[in-house]
Amino acid sequence: MRYARLKVSFLLLLFFYAGFSGCRQNNNHPMPETAAMAPDLNHVNIHLPEAAGYQAFALNCLICHSAAYVQNQPDLPEKTWEGIVTKMQKTFGAPVADSSIREIVQYLVTIKGKR
Ligand code: HEC
Repeated sequence: MRYARLKVSFLLLLFFYAGFSGCRQNNNHPMPETAAMAPDLNHVNIHLPEAAGYQAFALNCLICHSAAYVQNQPDLPEKTWEGIVTKMQKTFGAPVADSSIREIVQYLVTIKGKR
C-alpha cells in the first residue's frame, strides 16, 4: 500500500518534470510579443535645427505635442505653415501671442519650407 503511494508520487513527479521541460522547449519558439513588435518610442529621433526663431517655436509649440508633429510634415509653403500656426492658435487654443506668429512661421519655413 505504502509502496503504491510512492509509485504514484514518483509518477506525478515524472509527469510534472515532463510538463516543465515541455514548457522550456516551448520557450525556444516564443509567441511574438506585442511589446517587441511595437516601435520603441523612446528612441524615435526627433531633432529640429536651432535656426532663428527656434526659441519661440519651442516655447509655443511643444506644450501640447512633440516636435514630431512638425518633423513629420513635408516641406510646406509659407502660407500653409501660417495656416497651421493659426489653426493651433484659434482652433486648438494654443496660447500663442499674435506678435510671435511671424517669428514661428519664419522658423518653420526655414526648416521645412517650400516655395
Ligand atoms: C493647445 C495645444 C497645442 C499647441 C500649443 C500646439 N498644437 Fe499643434 N496640434 C494640436 C492638436 C490638438 C493637433 C491635432 C492632433 C491630431 O490631429 O492628432 C495638432 C497638430 C499639429 C500638426 C499636425 C498637422 C495638423 O495640421 O494637424 C502640426 C504640424 C502642428 N500641430 C504644429 C504646431 C505648431 C507649429 C505649434 C506652435 C505654433 C503648435 N502645433 C502648437 C495642439 C496644439
